Amino acid sequence: MKNLSICINHVYPFITTEEITGYKAQMKTFISALHNKTGSGNDFLGWLDLPSTISASDLERIKKLSNNLRQEIEILVVIGIGGSYSGAKAVIEALSHTFSHLKKDRHKPLVLYAGQNLSEDYITELLEILEKKSYAVIVISKSGTTTEPAIAFRILKNHLENKIGKTETGGKIIAITDTKRGALRELAENEGYITFVIPDDVGGRYSVLTPVGILPIAIAGFDVYRLLEGARVMQSLTGENVSFEDNPATIYAAIRNALYNKGKTIEILVNYSPKLHFFSEWWKQLYGESEGKENKGIFPASVNFTTDLHSMGQYIQEGKRNIFETVISILTPNSELRIPADSGNLDKLNYMSGKRIDEVNKMAELGTRIAHVDGGVPNIRIEIPELDEFFLGQLIYFFEKACALSGYTLGINPFDQPGVEAYKKNMFALLGKPGFEEETEKIKNRVLDD
Ligand code: PA5
Repeated sequence: MKNLSICINHVYPFITTEEITGYKAQMKTFISALHNKTGSGNDFLGWLDLPSTISASDLERIKKLSNNLRQEIEILVVIGIGGSYSGAKAVIEALSHTFSHLKKDRHKPLVLYAGQNLSEDYITELLEILEKKSYAVIVISKSGTTTEPAIAFRILKNHLENKIGKTETGGKIIAITDTKRGALRELAENEGYITFVIPDDVGGRYSVLTPVGILPIAIAGFDVYRLLEGARVMQSLTGENVSFEDNPATIYAAIRNALYNKGKTIEILVNYSPKLHFFSEWWKQLYGESEGKENKGIFPASVNFTTDLHSMGQYIQEGKRNIFETVISILTPNSELRIPADSGNLDKLNYMSGKRIDEVNKMAELGTRIAHVDGGVPNIRIEIPELDEFFLGQLIYFFEKACALSGYTLGINPFDQPGVEAYKKNMFALLGKPGFEEETEKIKNRVLDD
């Protein structure tokens, strides 16, 4: 069976084999700390076993609910921010027809998102679209108190109640939240919404394989069993008993840290398929929020090639030499299209006629790798045979496991996000939220000084 593979040939000569294997003992310790739950953040390790522990009853409910909703609605609105929406969006966008919003024969509901920004124009324009469509809402918030999704939900709840009547909304609103705590839990219980639980020991950015990701992905019409199967395979390929050399997660975590210690402080996740754009957004959320702490951490960035070879490519080739690239390469695309011959050949492309577009894309990838490595940018290549549910499941679990190991190697807790509170405190103070009176006074003076 083919699986995700990692190619590290092009991290040399920036780091040596000895520098990579130098992490072997540490990785052994950290992987045991994860599995024995003895490391920092050990109350947030539920994601480690998720692919094999997600409950059969949850899966059955998800299957039934998604089959019903797919018959009933034209649009699904997923409300959430950070880890509460980015995993679902990553998978749905990777698997969807690029122009699905324009396809007439589309049977799946179109998935739209809300609560991931505070733009008045965004939400107004969303309401404009929803006015003429049948829709359901999944509202996701582990804490149940996050401002952005709470505002979006208040607006959409009102809209839906006015549109179809309060009694009908119960079947069209699904709340995914904490088992017991939080405003969303209370609201869902009072209003009788359908609910699913985010396990206590799974943080937002590690939650894509819980109902947080699985339910929207299933409603969008994709095979969540295959997604979980892929993740399960990766769970065993990155398990505690797999050797350092054979475990792609330990190798990736070790190489990232070795490069970081050589001054390569920015990692760019590269794709050659625009379908992976939002997968990179998920990856940035996972790595940025997990590792950027205590004045440490690799800055996660992303580009879509070849598009960004005509913009960021210049910087990557010749700018400050503090970056490395991790390329997600899809071996075989899902469709086949060849470049036609042309009798005039005025565009001088006949030397490529008969070739698949993907062959040109692969040569762009190879040519770019050689150029960037020559220019001082180390390259890690992660290859998947094709872009489907199974290999997305592998990618997700691989990146999650490597992120945890890499965070431990950096010496930080990869499962908390204390820095996210700073902007919230200021925003609440500026808005005059009850309980923030002291902060309001202080920040008013700051604003006057500005
Ligand atoms: O990874 C995380 O924990 C965060 O990105 C959260 O998912 C995000 O802040 C949203 O939080 P909540 O689900 O509590 O609304």
